[in-house]
Order: sequence, then structure tokens, then C-alpha cells
Amino acid sequence: LRVYHLTDTTGLDALGIVELPDPEPGPQDVLVRVGAVSLNFRDFSIARGTYAFGTISPPIVPCSDAAGTIVAAGSEVTRFKPGDRVAPIFFPKWLAGRVSRAATATTLGAGGTGTLAELVTLHEDACVAVPGHLSDAEAACLPCAGVTAWNAVFEGQPVRPGESVVTLGTGGVSLFALAFAKAAGARVIATTSSGDKRRRLEALGADVTINYVETPEWHEEVRRLTGGAGADLVIDVAGPTTLPRSLDAVAPGGRVTVIGAMGGPGEINPMPISRDSTTVRGMYVGSRAMFEAMNAAINANALRPVVDRVFPFEEAAEAYGHFAGRKHFGKVCIAVGS
Ligand SMILES: NC(=O)c1ccc[n+]([C@@H]2O[C@H](COP(=O)([O-])OP(=O)(O)OC[C@H]3O[C@@H](n4cnc5c(N)ncnc54)[C@H](OP(=O)(O)O)[C@@H]3O)[C@@H](O)[C@H]2O)c1
Repeated sequence: LRVYHLTDTTGLDALGIVELPDPEPGPQDVLVRVGAVSLNFRDFSIARGTYAFGTISPPIVPCSDAAGTIVAAGSEVTRFKPGDRVAPIFFPKWLAGRVSRAATATTLGAGGTGTLAELVTLHEDACVAVPGHLSDAEAACLPCAGVTAWNAVFEGQPVRPGESVVTLGTGGVSLFALAFAKAAGARVIATTSSGDKRRRLEALGADVTINYVETPEWHEEVRRLTGGAGADLVIDVAGPTTLPRSLDAVAPGGRVTVIGAMGGPGEINPMPISRDSTTVRGMYVGSRAMFEAMNAAINANALRPVVDRVFPFEEAAEAYGHFAGRKHFGKVCIAVGS
């Protein structure tokens, strides 16, 4: 098989294809012919050595997210059969229930072998069936960005019809969050950095959009748009530089998620959290149970992930480069199988 190796973490020059013998599934494993892989912000962070979670020991097979078809199953496999289309779960050990350090200790493409390969072996428990109406590229968007957005919208205190939800930017997590919040009956206020992306957000169902470059005090606009009350939920994916504004954009008694860290270091004043009785909720992707609940909703509502562009397998470095340029809207994918 052909598989990508990241031989160090100094940048994309370290990403190259190697030929290896085809893997053999163990008794409880499935062998999956990968159809497509999707990139996440973390994959880019890992490649350039800025990933904050855990130590990366190259060479690694990068990427966590994929979808494909089972071509062989070990003798003890009961959950799936050859021909089934599946996606891996982000944390192979977090199947259900409350998060734990043990559950999140291993992730694909960091501590564990990643998915940017023609064939991968996965424990049968570490896969879910993908919604049948999705292409492999669409289904490959689900394991990290999709499940994280699902966690933000429906776990903890779930979004209720009529609530106002703020999403930041047009990356993978935020566009899933927009779709899920709309499906829950919320009013979505979405921020982005360009006029073109505002129009595309509105076409996807955002009720109001704000250009956060032209309106850096976007939290004041959120308050104005909510009659002075503030939003019920702010899904903050950017982190240190946006959290102070997110805390000012949320209504007393509302919720703010802490999902990402894209804007460099920053300082958080805890006083607004106390003043407004805000629930600040961190999250780390999610469990297999969340993935399965999300897939049920995707099936029921015929939802489709937003795929920005699909690159050929041989152009994985170009896909990473496109992602790094922040021109994308939604998910950047790499086609693997023919
Ligand atoms: N905790 C977790 O479990 C978890 C899971 C997945 C992702 N994450 C994190 O969540 C973040 C987003 O991930 P992703 O995969 O969705 O990334 P992505 O696809 O690269 O999206 C990045 C987008 O965020 C927007 N953005 C960047 N800086 C911003 C700022 N200061 N204010 C508002 N928007 C900003 C930009 O949107 P515009 O171009 O529209 O301006 C940018 O295109 C990353 O930090 C990632 O590591 C965390």
C-alpha cells in the first residue's frame, strides 16, 4: 500500500509517500480501503510542530479523519462485514460516557497510526457506519470537526428552539455547528473575515452574519442583534484572542465553549464569567456514542458536510498548504481510493 509518513515536525517538506506491505487485520480488526481523508487544524499544527496536546514521535502516519469501505474483517468481528462503509472514531478508546484521560490518551494521527494511507486497520469498536447518502469525502469530515460541533451544540446543555447561537469563522467545526444549531431551531449569528464568506454563510442558513475584521467589536454587534441580551451560546473555536469578546457576547446565564486556540496567546479575565453566571465548557472532540447520535441526526435531516475542495492523494502537501492559507470554507479533503 501507499501511505504518507511525516518524518519530522518542521513543516510540509517532511510529508512523503512510502510503500509498505498491506496490513493484516487482527481478530477484532477491520481492514478499510480508505476513500478519502479530511484535514483538521490539528493536522497542520502537528506538521509544523505547534501541536499542544502530547508529544509527537515521527515518523507518523498523519491525519485522524477518513471514510472508506471494509475489505476484510478479523475472525472475531461482529459489528461490521466486508463492504460496509465506515469512519474511524477520533479517540479509539472513548466509546461512551464521561470523558477521561484514559479515553483521550490515544488519537489517530498523533499517538496512534493515522489515516492518510490507502489501507488502515481499525479495531471494530473504533469505527462507526457512515450515513449512506454521503460520499467518502463528505463522510471523512465527520470524525473530528463534526463530532466536536455536535458536542458543542447538543451535549452539556443542548441548544433549544429559539435560542441564539454565535459561530466564529467558516472552518470545519463552525460550519457543522451552524448546520446543527439550525436543525435544532436556533437563530444563528455567524462571524467571518470576508464579504464573500458572509454570503456563503447566509446561503447555508445563517440568520445574521458579521465581518469580524470590519467589526472587531463584534461582541457589541451580537448584543445589539439580541436586543441587548446577548447570545445564549457562543461556540468559540478561536480561543485566547476571542474568548474575552465571546464572554461579553453571551447573555447572563448563557454558555461559551472553549474549543480551539488559533489566535496566539491571550489573557482571560474570569470576572465576567462570575458576573454573568456563564457556563464555560471545554471539550475535546467526543465519544463514539456522540458520533452515532450525530449520524442519526445527519441521516434524519439529510445533512451534508460542506466540502471546500478535494485534492488527489499525490497532492496531500498542496491540500495542507491550501488549508494553511485560510481561504477555505468548510472542509479540505484528500481523495485516496479511486
Ligand atoms: N477541542 C476540540 O476537540 C477541537 C476539535 C476540532 C477543532 N478544534 C480547534 O478548533 C479550531 C477550529 O478548527 P477547524 O478544524 O474548524 O479549523 P479551520 O477549518 O482551519 O477553520 C479556521 C477558521 O476559523 C476562523 N478564524 C480564525 N481565526 C479567527 C478569529 N480570530 N476569529 C474568528 N474566526 C477565526 C477563520 O474563518 P474565516 O475564514 O471565515 O474568517 C478560519 O478559516 C482549531 O483551533 C482547532 O484546533 C478543537
